[in-house]
Amino acid sequence: MGRMKGKVAIVTGAAKGIGAATAKTLAREGAKVVCSDLDEAGGQAIADAIANDGGEASFIRHDVVNEAEWEAVAQHAESRFGGLHVVVNNAGIAPEGGPIEEKTLASWRHTIAVDLDSVFLGCKHGIRTIKKYTSKGGAGGSIINISSILGLVGQPNASDYNAAKGGVRLLTKSAALECAEAGYNIRVNSVHPGYIDTPLVRNALNRGVVQGQSVGPNEMRELLIMLHPVGRLGIADEIANAVLFLASDEASFMTGSEVVVDGGYTTR
Ligand SMILES: NC(=O)c1ccc[n+]([C@@H]2O[C@H](COP(=O)([O-])OP(=O)(O)OC[C@H]3O[C@@H](n4cnc5c(N)ncnc54)[C@H](O)[C@@H]3O)[C@@H](O)[C@H]2O)c1
Repeated sequence: MGRMKGKVAIVTGAAKGIGAATAKTLAREGAKVVCSDLDEAGGQAIADAIANDGGEASFIRHDVVNEAEWEAVAQHAESRFGGLHVVVNNAGIAPEGGPIEEKTLASWRHTIAVDLDSVFLGCKHGIRTIKKYTSKGGAGGSIINISSILGLVGQPNASDYNAAKGGVRLLTKSAALECAEAGYNIRVNSVHPGYIDTPLVRNALNRGVVQGQSVGPNEMRELLIMLHPVGRLGIADEIANAVLFLASDEASFMTGSEVVVDGGYTTR
């Protein structure tokens, strides 16, 4: 308890999956958490669950591709909780798979917008706001960008997701260097989950599009499990714990790094 005491955090995509687990984990450790999501009912439910647990949280509807809404979310953190120290750029989508030669430019652009442009906006407005509270010393700031194993290694039929998540990896390093050189006391790191048992993965299994193969959900799940040397999919709390470490001052010498949490997927 208390590893995030005195910090205010924004978590995008907080209504479910990794974002929900992250919002709860940061709040349990004392952060005041702004939960943002397109899903109003789900996001409000997570903020309520945090409050029922004795934590402090609020929900704000937020489309992460909309710059004006990013400004509103940052202002909300300041007016409601008195500052901002942490942004977790988590919201994202898993697009339908398909070969490059058949992908439309519109679907490519949609994935790049939700999975990469959003992280640029989160870094931009995160840095602008967080630096007001961290550059004069005191509590450090931290931006955590949720990339993927697919930001590290390629996968057929996932060109848009590969490109977006690979972009998040290097955008993170650029932001980390800018913040370090400017003396903002803001660290920026990326997290690269393997397959995590969340609604995103369950929906993809049901669509039968994971790894570009079309078999039933149970068979697909077994195929995915086999790709993880530890012999199972991950759970959202396992990603939330890595985010908590990066968000806290325990990770004070880490910036521009890529934290892989993948049950060994990329080890082979
Ligand atoms: N689950 C995995 O296996 C896995 C693996 C690697 C990386 N990731 C990444 O982790 C992040 C979270 O994934 P998840 O599995 O928890 O997904 P999820 O689908 O379970 O939850 C994602 C949340 O983001 C929200 N969201 C989607 N588009 C949004 C938008 N434009 N604006 C605001 N909110 C939006 C959704 O409403 C949802 O609540 C994503 O960036 C995903 O790419 C997931």
